Order: sequence, then structure tokens, then C-alpha cells
Amino acid sequence: MKETIELAKKTLIENRRADYTLPTNNKLYPAQWNWDSAFIALGYSYFNLEYAIKELETLLSGQWKDGMIPHILFHEEDESYFPNHKTWECGEKIPSSGITQPPIISTIIKKIVNQNNLNENQKERMRDIIVKVKKYLDWFYRYRDPKNLALASIIHPWESGLDNCPIWDSALDKIVVEKNLNYERRDLKVSESSNRPLKKDYDCYITLLNQFKKKNYNPKTLVELSMFNVIDIGFNSILIKAAKDLLEVSKKFNLDYMDLQEKIILSEENLIKFYKEKEQLFYSYDFKNHNLIKIDAISNYFILFADIGNDKINKNVIDKLKKYNSENDLILTTVNPKDPSFEEKRYWRGPVWINSNWIIYEGTKNKDKKFADNLKNKTLKLLEDKNFYEYYNYRNSECLGANNFSWSAALYLDLKLNN
Ligand code: DGY
Repeated sequence: MKETIELAKKTLIENRRADYTLPTNNKLYPAQWNWDSAFIALGYSYFNLEYAIKELETLLSGQWKDGMIPHILFHEEDESYFPNHKTWECGEKIPSSGITQPPIISTIIKKIVNQNNLNENQKERMRDIIVKVKKYLDWFYRYRDPKNLALASIIHPWESGLDNCPIWDSALDKIVVEKNLNYERRDLKVSESSNRPLKKDYDCYITLLNQFKKKNYNPKTLVELSMFNVIDIGFNSILIKAAKDLLEVSKKFNLDYMDLQEKIILSEENLIKFYKEKEQLFYSYDFKNHNLIKIDAISNYFILFADIGNDKINKNVIDKLKKYNSENDLILTTVNPKDPSFEEKRYWRGPVWINSNWIIYEGTKNKDKKFADNLKNKTLKLLEDKNFYEYYNYRNSECLGANNFSWSAALYLDLKLNN
């Protein structure tokens, strides 16, 4: 629908600040988020390539010297968000959080490069972006992969992007929360508390943050020290795809990143060990407490996005996905509604998120086109009917969280306009 396309563009433009874009304009997230910005750049690429490139450049301007791209950049010293730059105290030129987020940026770059005619100046800038993203991927293998599996550990639930997803519950239960924690949440001032993470989750989030801060965010020690360490299927699927896409796109810029090939092979070999034949599914592994996390969540199916070359496993996972939330089939809840941990309205514990649908669409379009097209059409219809919210109730499409949500708008443009 033409109107929805125009509204999507307007949403992005209205959320745009000085060379970067807020996830939404309702004060819930007053900064630049890592994976949000990558999705946003893809949206811009359909109508303003300059803004797309600028969005990525601004994100990379906050890259740490060691290579990490933080999950949040606080370009303005705004204290209306918690935890803000003062809480994190990273000491970097651009104040930021001290953890990262899924490296979806690499796949987004490949799409932007393949779908557009870049001029000489844009090509040069894109080359610089690619060089920085390579440094980012190397950072995962260097600092988050202590056993050399070519799989990255996440050390905070926020790194997964699926903050309060039940996948983390059992690991968080074992964290000894710091005594006398003293903080004030700001999210509850602008969002319904029944839709947001619980206090017990925030207590763990802040305990972990304080632990990392005490260690000066030293990447050499955090992975061993953190009270939370998970090899997440969703995160690693995005990382494998990132390595594949960066390797492919780097060739167009005469960059030799063949070392990524070894990582890709090794990570696929190792990730496949987390596939459980009986359940037809991959499960994340709690590295700290040594157990598999058997929660049926949508991010386990992100393995399809990784494009591992095993047709039989891919087919089994798609068959399982077809039964995932069969009550309202192709609108993908964060957690299977039959799982006891499912909560219809609470953030990443049940609602439908547009980026999850997009990742699954991307992961199935070359494997089961009919399924993928169905998912795409249902997602487009949801957005045309309800516009761009942060998340939705699968039962009745009730709009939840923030309105004018940037990645919902950006991914609408990609799903709608990408042929
Ligand atoms: C929030 O504040 O809820 C964010 O998701 C953290 O990254």
C-alpha cells in the first residue's frame, strides 16, 4: 500500500536526529542502538542512500578501539534513559554501553551494496565501513570464543537483543544479585509495566553491568568472569551469516577476508552439535552452568538465517516451525504459546516482533518459498492494518510497546519493496 510506504519513510525521518535515528520518538529509547540502526539503514536505502550510509557511519564512529560496537551509543548526554552514559561510565570518546548486540550490520551492508548503485564516494565510504565491521567480527572470535569454537558467548541478556526472553531465566536465577542495588527505572514512566521486563530481571541486568564496570570492561577477562555466559543459537546464527555476508561483499571491494572462511566452517561444525534430533531443534547452551536451555523460542529457528548447508536439518526445523504457533500460524511469537514461560504481552516473552519475522523470512525464502511468502504477506498485512509498533499481541494484533517504531517501519520497506 502506497500510504503505508509513505508513513514508513515519514516514521524514519521523524525519528532521525543528527546523523542517526532513534528506535522510537516516545522517549523510551533516547539514543542509538546497534542492531536497530542496521535495520534502519536498510529502510533508508529504499529512499535515501545517503541517510543509510550515514546511519552506519555514525554507529561505527562509536566503535571501541578493541573492535566492539557497543549496543547503545549515547550521542547526547541525556539522563532520561536508564542505564545511561553515567551508569555505564565507559570512558570512550562517544559515551556508550559496555556490551554489544547481534552483528546484523554485516548482512545489511551486503543487501545495501547488492541492491544499489553506489557512486565513487559512497563506495569509498562503504569500504571503510566494511573494514570496521571486519574488526568487529574479529573481536567476537578473539574475545568471546575462549574454546576456539568460532562461536561467540554472550555475557548479558541485552547482548542477545531478546532481553527478557525465557531462554535466559534459568541462568539468571543462578546470579547472586548485588546487595543494596540502588537504581531507578525510567522505562516504566513511558511504557506499561505489564509489557516490560520484571524487577528481578533488571536486578540481574544491573548486577552484571556493575560487575563489568568494576573490571573496566576489559574484554580479555569478561568472558571468563561474567556470571552469565550463554552460547545462544539466535546470536550465533546471525554471526555465521555475518561472516558469510561480509566475506562475500568484501570481494567486491578487493579486500581479502578469506580467514573468515575457516571460521564459517568451524562454527557450522560446532553449532550443529546443538541440534537435537528428537525435538528437531537447536537449543542454546548455558556455558556457565553447563546445560542446554530447552525453551522453544523463535530465536532457535534463526538457524535458518545462518544458511547451514544441511538440507535435512533445515527441512526438519522448517517442519517444526510450521507447527510453532499454529493457532495463528505464520505470525511468529517470541516464544511458543504452548511453552509454560509464554506471556502474551510481555516484551520478549511472547509478543510478535517484526525483526524476528524478517529474520525468519530471510532464512526461509530460499528453502521454502511458499512458507516464506506467506509469512511476508502476513507481516505486511499486520503493518498495513496496525502501523509501526514495537511489538504486537499474536492473538488479536493488539499494538504493544512504543508507537512509531523505526525498525518496524524500515523492515516494512524492505519486505514491501525488495523484489
Ligand atoms: C531496553 O532498555 O529495554 C533495551 O532493550 C536495552 O537494550
